[in-house]
Parts: sequence; C-alpha cells; structure tokens
Amino acid sequence: MKEVRIGLVGLGFMGTTHWGIYKGMKDARIVAVADVDAAKRRGDISKVVGNIGGGDNSKPLDLTGVTVYENGFAMLADADVDIVDICVPTPDHADLAVAALKAGKHVFCEKPLCRDRAQLKRIVAAVKKAKTFFNVGMCVRAWPEYRHAWEYFKSGKAGKMKTATFKRISPSVDGNAWQNWFMDGVRSGGALLDLHVHDIDEVNYFFGKPKRLSAAGAADVVCKGGVDHVVATYDYGDGTLVMAEGGWAAAKGTPFEMSFTIVCEKATLKLDASGYHIYPVKGKPIVPKCDVKAGPTGWHQELAYFVQCVKKGIAPTKYQTLDSVATTMEMAFAEERAVKSGKAVAL
Ligand SMILES: NC(=O)c1ccc[n+]([C@@H]2O[C@H](COP(=O)([O-])OP(=O)(O)OC[C@H]3O[C@@H](n4cnc5c(N)ncnc54)[C@H](O)[C@@H]3O)[C@@H](O)[C@H]2O)c1
Repeated sequence: MKEVRIGLVGLGFMGTTHWGIYKGMKDARIVAVADVDAAKRRGDISKVVGNIGGGDNSKPLDLTGVTVYENGFAMLADADVDIVDICVPTPDHADLAVAALKAGKHVFCEKPLCRDRAQLKRIVAAVKKAKTFFNVGMCVRAWPEYRHAWEYFKSGKAGKMKTATFKRISPSVDGNAWQNWFMDGVRSGGALLDLHVHDIDEVNYFFGKPKRLSAAGAADVVCKGGVDHVVATYDYGDGTLVMAEGGWAAAKGTPFEMSFTIVCEKATLKLDASGYHIYPVKGKPIVPKCDVKAGPTGWHQELAYFVQCVKKGIAPTKYQTLDSVATTMEMAFAEERAVKSGKAVAL
C-alpha cells in the first residue's frame, strides 16, 4: 500500500487533534470526514475546545479533495477509505466500530472503547470476526514517558513493584464539547470513564488484572449522573499497594496534571510537574531519554504506529491486544459498580 487513506469521523477536540497529526505524516492522507454538525462539515472548528493540547482552531480545516459525509455510517461504503478513525462521543463508538469492521475497514477507535458491558461484548465479537485491524486510542500506553517507564519496569531493571500511584486531574470540561455531552454522565461515564480510564489502563498494562478493586467517588460535582472524581485501589493479593486517582472538577485554568510514582525494589520511577525521572536505590537520578521519533505525544505515537501496520499489513500488537483493552473496560465498569455499592468488587 502506497499511502494509507483515512476517513475521520467526528471533528471535535480529538478528531481535529488527529487531523493535525495525520497532516504531518507522509504515509497517510485524509480522504474523507464525517460530522453531524454542519459547521464542522464546512471546516469551521472555531468552537472546538479540549482539556490538553489542541491546535489553532481559528483557521478552518482545508477540506479540498476530501469527501464530506453527514455521519460516519454514510462513509463506510466509500471504497477510498482504508482506516475509519472514530472520534465521536463514547456511547456512539460501538455501533460505528461494529459497522465499520463489517464493512471491511481497519478501525482506530478513540477511548474509552465503549459506554457499557453490552457494547463491549458486541465490539469484542466484531473484532474477533474481522479480518481487518482494530486499535483503541489508549494513548497513555504510547505516551513517551509512560512508555519508557513501562519498558524499564518490564525489563526488570527496577525490580519488583512495592507501591504504585497514578493520578490525572483536569480542569472542568463543562462547555467544551458538542452538545456538552461530557456533562451528561449517562453518556460520558463522567471522569471515571473518560479521564481516569487512562490510569486504570496503566494499572492493567503495568501489573495485569487485579484480583479485586475498591473505589470511592464524588458524583454530581460538575456533571449529572457520572462520577466526577474517583480514588481506586487495586488488590493483587501480594502485599503491594496500587492506587489511581482521577477527576475533572478543578477550576478552569487549573493546569492539567498527569503523574505517577512507581516504587520498586531497585528504583522509583516518577513523573510529575518537574518531569520524568528514575531514582535508583543505588546511584544517581536518571533523566531518561524517551522515544519521540513519531512525535511528542502518545496520540502521535499510536496513530503513526497504526498507519504503518495498515500500510505493511502487520497486526498492530505493540501497544495492546483486544483482551487487554477489554480487561481495562471491565475494570472501569467494576469501579462504577464499586463506587455505587461502596463495596470491593472481584474481577
Ligand atoms: N485519547 C484522548 O486523550 C482523548 C481526549 C479527548 C477525548 N477523547 C475521546 O474522543 C471522543 C470524542 O471526544 P471529543 O473531545 O473530541 O468530543 P467533541 O464533542 O469535541 O467532538 C465530538 C464530535 O463528534 C461529532 N459527532 C457526534 N456524533 C456524531 C456521529 N454520530 N457521526 C459523526 N459525527 C458525530 C460532533 O459534532 C463533534 O464534532 C470521546 O470518546 C472522548 O472520550 C480522547
């Protein structure tokens, strides 16, 4: 395949972020876009806002040579599209992903994969049946500092984990999205499913599926019917303490925080506002060199990798397997149940 042709569905914060990343790739070309919003279909992204990153949205997208559809389903019959990239609100991922796989497209689907367990079951069945590739935007697995820490830990250099803490605190996203859908917790799943899911995924990616988890949360702080702030602990039955905290109720303008502290026998790995460092028990602190060849963020890394896999016909297993992402979603839904019931949940 000479170049990989992209059909981008949803031109909000994440869709326009993906747009910018594909534009910087020599092996990918956006050939189609779809959005239910007429202004976005004209390329007007002036109302698009996100919590981190994001480019200059004052300039309209140049849609010259790009086929524009009124929704993602209409795009699926377009023979020019190789990858359908799904950047629509979470509850709509499942129908579109299943239909795109059935239409024989490769699919890149934004996180969180879906809104509930019934949707998860449908997507897993469709991916297993499909001959095409499927990856989910669990971008933190590919985020340079997190990736370096994961590789360092998995290499055994840090030794056994003793305690691990992952944290993600965002300013409020109220007013940012199309139809303000994040603020409807039934649709978005609140901060637990939208933001904290990244750290649930890191816990799973680093240490695997725990035996059980506990979670406490605050609901109805900024969104209705969703968990706005959550603290979870993960029980591996081996005396370690693993926890994660996430919330999106901070005042607008509060700097976005993503951090971790992983205390191991031979070293502590730490990312915070001062940067990413490894502190060996013996020896001087290390400032690791992270791999940023494909770009500075996990979004760049994961998309560049998926495009190359489709181009070369190689299954995309570097960052994820379907089973590991499904486990993350089961953990997220278990946390929702734990918050509601106030009881630990077995996995
Ligand atoms: N990986 C990350 O770090 C990250 C960051 C932010 C958002 N996300 C995820 O990306 C997805 C989109 O979030 P967002 O912040 O871009 O939201 P958004 O509201 O900014 O954008 C959603 C876009 O989808 C369009 N849309 C809605 N329904 C559609 C449909 N059926 N067909 C076509 N277009 C449709 C809307 O008009 C809007 O342009 C969500 O699942 C979200 O959780 C991921």
